[in-house]
Amino acid sequence: MSDDLQGTIPLVDASVVDRWDKEWMHYLSTESKWPHLIQSSKLRVQTDVRHLERAEIFATSLTMTADAIPMAPLRIWATGSELVQRSVAEIGCGAGFLGKQIGLIATRYLGIDVSQLALAIARGNSGPNCSYLHIGERTLIAQEFGKYDTVLGREFFIHQNFPNAMQVLRLAKELLVGVAGYVPTSICRIQTSNKAWFIQPAPSSTLTMRLVRLLFQLGRFKSSRRTSD
Ligand SMILES: C[S@@+](CC[C@H](N)C(=O)[O-])C[C@H]1O[C@@H](n2cnc3c(N)ncnc32)[C@H](O)[C@@H]1O
Repeated sequence: MSDDLQGTIPLVDASVVDRWDKEWMHYLSTESKWPHLIQSSKLRVQTDVRHLERAEIFATSLTMTADAIPMAPLRIWATGSELVQRSVAEIGCGAGFLGKQIGLIATRYLGIDVSQLALAIARGNSGPNCSYLHIGERTLIAQEFGKYDTVLGREFFIHQNFPNAMQVLRLAKELLVGVAGYVPTSICRIQTSNKAWFIQPAPSSTLTMRLVRLLFQLGRFKSSRRTSD
């Protein structure tokens, strides 16, 4: 591992990989598997999301099955224009639930995760413009720096303590095109508990973007792009 990647790509212990692989095994044996196992080629885009705002995207179901069963709402804090025909990355992508759908409207999608099991499922179910990397593939991840218009984290930050969340935001910043940008995520509200910080889904767009800005300030990031909310 090269030293110059220290500080930009989080180092993850093997025990964390093991823990998340086990989480996924447990999850897939107890919850409904089909949304995770269905292939993107079996999904159809049912909503034109290009002009939707963040709150609309959050609640919108993008795709449906051939039997017209809608996939779950997107639950991400991004506008349609930040997704459609954009290059999109997701940190903590899991089994590609989101990636295989976003790949149907984005020019390309990159998912990064710590669970090899989840990544194997994601690779098997996503389209050709989707690629997946393990967080430990540091050199390959570094080759993706500066290539993405939008970086997402869905139901991810809630699992990170504050130092980890800051490291992930640093990685997100490196992935973004140019030197500055912002990370539309499902961040909304920060709670402190036992000195760990949890970032949870947001009740309002204003609060969300204020807190994203706060995180950037705390992490000494710059946000150059203005947002409407
Ligand atoms: C609740 S799942 C969400 C998966 C996906 N974002 C979705 O919405 O379907 C959280 C994911 O974060 C991954 N994860 C946890 N810590 C991570 C880390 N430090 N780096 C990368 N991925 C991580 C887990 O392996 C898991 O797949």
